[in-house]
Amino acid sequence: MFREFNVGEFYRLLHPRPVIIITSSCDSGKVNAMACSWFTPVSEEPPTVLVVVDETSYTAECVESSGGFAINVLPSEFLGKIWIAGSRSGRDVDKISAMEVNLIRCARINSYAISESLAVVEAVRIGTYGVGGSKIFIGEVVAAYVKEGVTGRYGWDLNKVSIPLHGWGRQFYVVDKNTKYVYVK
Ligand SMILES: Cc1cc2nc3c(=O)[nH]c(=O)nc-3n(C[C@H](O)[C@H](O)[C@H](O)COP(=O)(O)O)c2cc1C
Repeated sequence: MFREFNVGEFYRLLHPRPVIIITSSCDSGKVNAMACSWFTPVSEEPPTVLVVVDETSYTAECVESSGGFAINVLPSEFLGKIWIAGSRSGRDVDKISAMEVNLIRCARINSYAISESLAVVEAVRIGTYGVGGSKIFIGEVVAAYVKEGVTGRYGWDLNKVSIPLHGWGRQFYVVDKNTKYVYVK
């Protein structure tokens, strides 16, 4: 038997989802960081990704004006910093300082990534769609890089790294060495 679920909160049934940090450069000269769990790869060829960003966020403004963004994958140990990026606006606070992380210049876009990231995916904005109060930024992936020794044949080596998933609100799931691997025949 099913029970009815509030349609306005349907997305809760589609979590947990990976959570990443979008970094973008803003007209003010600031580099901003925002937590994002509504994102997805779109195409392998050409390599394309999309992120869903609240139209009122500072990130929406920065991605619009700079034309690109970086996706930073941070480990679970950084959940406190991820929460800072997801609960305050770059309009009010320098989140890079508040998170106490360091920046490196991006390889292919005119912005910065977080040097403590496990991996970075850089994208050039090639399309923008508005849906409700959200902006969907489609990005062509122009660079991707990962720390040495943290991936295996199928992706993250969970004996080496721990990846956060976002439940909802303040709840997160940690995918780590205690996670059971299952391989289908
Ligand atoms: C774990 C987590 C995931 C989030 N995912 C999204 C998301 O996918 N899209 C979005 O617009 N906001 C998301 N948020 C909220 C933004 O990160 C938040 O509104 C942030 O303050 C925006 O910052 P900015 O104004 O500096 O861009 C998320 C917050 C958290 C904590």
